[in-house]
Amino acid sequence: MAKPAPDWDERFRGDEALYGLAPSGFVIDCSLALPHGARVLCLAEGQGRNALALAARGFRVTSLDLSGTACRQLAERAAALRLPITVREQDLGLWSAPEAAFDAVVAVYAHMPRVLRRDLHGQIGRGLAPGGLVIIEGFRAEQLGRPSGGPRNLDWLYTEDELRGDFAGFHIDYLATPEVSLDEGRGHQGPGALIRFRARRQG
Ligand SMILES: C[S@@+](CC[C@H](N)C(=O)[O-])C[C@H]1O[C@@H](n2cnc3c(N)ncnc32)[C@H](O)[C@@H]1O
Repeated sequence: MAKPAPDWDERFRGDEALYGLAPSGFVIDCSLALPHGARVLCLAEGQGRNALALAARGFRVTSLDLSGTACRQLAERAAALRLPITVREQDLGLWSAPEAAFDAVVAVYAHMPRVLRRDLHGQIGRGLAPGGLVIIEGFRAEQLGRPSGGPRNLDWLYTEDELRGDFAGFHIDYLATPEVSLDEGRGHQGPGALIRFRARRQG
């Protein structure tokens, strides 16, 4: 039987940075391909470790997440650091992307049921301007059962074939399935099976 969806507000309660303060190194590496001031949308961005780092690098960042608690925490951190980030509470299962509004869309550990993820990938394609980048990092199917973090349902985990299929019209710059040693707050600790994907919407 499928496990119940996590209560994200409960998980983010308190002051702790659940996935640490450091951004994803993969996201930062990918952002080097973007011009200064590029419009970057971060999906399922939680407490905003990537959004904050990207805004500090001069990108115009919008962050969407289901958890009102995480959104409030991000908005407070952004204000304290004087970083102009647009933060919005949004269930991505109900989200319709504004057309061609972003130069990059970032989704880090944006795990959800496959049927919602497929729709979300379609929305990412719609939201990206021609030539825009999609940057995805998350757990792949081989992570199932490992204690280092991630969903407990296979259906919520990425596969290489899925990303190739969902972004078939894109030019794939990078697709890798590394084994990594995770040290991201209390949320992700230990050996992890990740997938990293960067693709460009064709002009
Ligand atoms: C593992 S956390 C990752 C947070 C952030 N991307 C990071 O790497 O630090 C997963 C995030 O997905 C968000 N999330 C889960 N389902 C969602 C949905 N349907 N719509 C929007 N956000 C969702 C949760 O609230 C949570 O912030």
